[in-house]
Amino acid sequence: MKLLSFISALIMQAVLNGCCIKFTSEDAKQFVNSRVLPKVKSVETNGECGFKLSKIKSVSCDSSLIAQAEIAIDKLSAITGNDIEIAKNGKLELSINKQLATEQYKLTIDNKKVNIQGGSPAGVFYGIQTLLQLLPTDVYGEGTVASDYALPPVIVDDSPRFDYRGMMIDVSRHFIQFDDLLQYVELLGQHKVNTLHLHLCDDQGWRLEIKAYPELTKIGSIRGTNEVIKPFRHSKAPEWQKHDPDPYGPFFYTQEQIKQLIKFASVRGITIVPEIDVPGHSLAINRVLHTGCRVKGSKGVHGYRGNVLCAGNEEVFNILETIFAEVAALFPSDYIHIGGDEVNHKQWLSCSECKKLMKREKLKGGHEIQNYVVKRVCEIVAKHGKRPVGWNEILSGGKLPEGTTIMSWIGPKPGIEAAKKGIEVIMAPGQYCYFDMKEARHHLEPGHWWAGIVNLEKVYSFDPLESIPDENKSFIKGISGALWTEYVTPEKEQLHYKSFPRLCALAEVAWSQPEHREYSDFMSRMGKYHLLRLEEQDVNYRIPRATYKFENDSIVFTKPYPEAKIYYSIDGSKPSKSSQLYEQPIPMKYRDDLKFITLSPSGKACKYEGVIKKDKKKK
Ligand code: ACM
Ligand code: ZN
Repeated sequence: MKLLSFISALIMQAVLNGCCIKFTSEDAKQFVNSRVLPKVKSVETNGECGFKLSKIKSVSCDSSLIAQAEIAIDKLSAITGNDIEIAKNGKLELSINKQLATEQYKLTIDNKKVNIQGGSPAGVFYGIQTLLQLLPTDVYGEGTVASDYALPPVIVDDSPRFDYRGMMIDVSRHFIQFDDLLQYVELLGQHKVNTLHLHLCDDQGWRLEIKAYPELTKIGSIRGTNEVIKPFRHSKAPEWQKHDPDPYGPFFYTQEQIKQLIKFASVRGITIVPEIDVPGHSLAINRVLHTGCRVKGSKGVHGYRGNVLCAGNEEVFNILETIFAEVAALFPSDYIHIGGDEVNHKQWLSCSECKKLMKREKLKGGHEIQNYVVKRVCEIVAKHGKRPVGWNEILSGGKLPEGTTIMSWIGPKPGIEAAKKGIEVIMAPGQYCYFDMKEARHHLEPGHWWAGIVNLEKVYSFDPLESIPDENKSFIKGISGALWTEYVTPEKEQLHYKSFPRLCALAEVAWSQPEHREYSDFMSRMGKYHLLRLEEQDVNYRIPRATYKFENDSIVFTKPYPEAKIYYSIDGSKPSKSSQLYEQPIPMKYRDDLKFITLSPSGKACKYEGVIKKDKKKK
């Protein structure tokens, strides 16, 4: 009898061991820490047996989480081949836990099930994103997982550092097609970015259907030689900027499309913030609705005349009232962005209507007129139950209405000063957050450069709370990237190229605690996993390049991440995968002839080859 029970105990143990896919405590934690981006706040081990993904045959969820469950089900069904449905006692459980902060989530994995709790549906969505990042990278494409693929036994407790984690896209200069915008929202969600700010109008086109003024999009969304809005040529456009077709447009979003976008985004925890940029950058509306000053006026910073709304014409405010009323009704966002940047004040000073206004309201100059307009627009926005946010110029010329937020773009300084005065701030300084800036000095690298080179490391180095006194830190609501699109053409290709991977760095700055993030660790996750996830989704990201330095009469390359491969030539030929693989420092004598490329983790070559700075002495 004793022998029998001993044997059955042995069998039992063998069965249990067979079921147990073991992880050491360190391996389980490392599994999460080496893969998840943005970096999680805390990960603990939870026993020693992992969970086989193929065990998920159903998902149970609160009724408020059906949409998030469907996202998980779609992906997990495709990955496992299981026909997963919503049912009680699912091996993946999704629920709301009111004890958690709004965007916090807790992902608990043991050998029996996976449980995700969130403080809100957005929190649960983030938990699902973290779960997906624990799978092989090819599941972001068509990949599937083996039936014994195991998740580590862990408890991940994660929440964001900042409430506002945003990205702005200018869809006026170049238009982003609706489907490409949906894909972009999907990508934002994967990065736990919670706001997409759309710059919907500018001098070069009006891109939002306004029912009260159909001509805004009928006329104002096309530019061309025979159109009211003339073709767009940036005065300093370099060779790599493709010229637009003539005519360009009509390109705009209908209100139905916006509703669809809002719905798609909200399931992913993303708010769409609309921007109607006034009183500058208003050439499109001025041309269509005749809202500008009736003077020739001088050129503004971008070289346009007549792109400012007339502050002395009451009809302009009636039109704005109607437009903002429609915008407020369409977008559920608390914020409405009112622009306010780069206004050419001079125009007002020569307009008879604006001069009358100055006299009547006792306004002393352009800045005070600007403040007058901004205050009136803020009032309109507030009347519709929304909170105004504007670019940092709205700080000038007088006080702002209570509750107005500023977006600090010219640098961090206006944001720091505003926070010290108790004004809420979203940090978007060009030097760190403007993805329209070049990422390298190379002449083939597209982009602006007024704020310097904004490379991946620069974005990652930004701390929105730097120089903010402790007592004012709570006024910094978060951070936003920005992509102005003068040079973003072909649109989809360049939208990706300019956004990624800088957006990955920005997402980590926005989400993760500073003590948990470190650039080399970030790049290691990028090189091993995250760039591959982007590639699986056909994201045309900019392949991070090797850098070099001179050391002991040699050229020494630094890889952007350990797996990066560098190929080089010294005979004038274009380097490729069949050139020499870089393995050790290259003697200085090859300096002037050396050309190199860096490959992506999957072996794709970067867009143009690098050369070494020439030896000036040699000439
Ligand atoms: C801006 O870049 N003009 C806000
Ligand atoms: Zn005027």
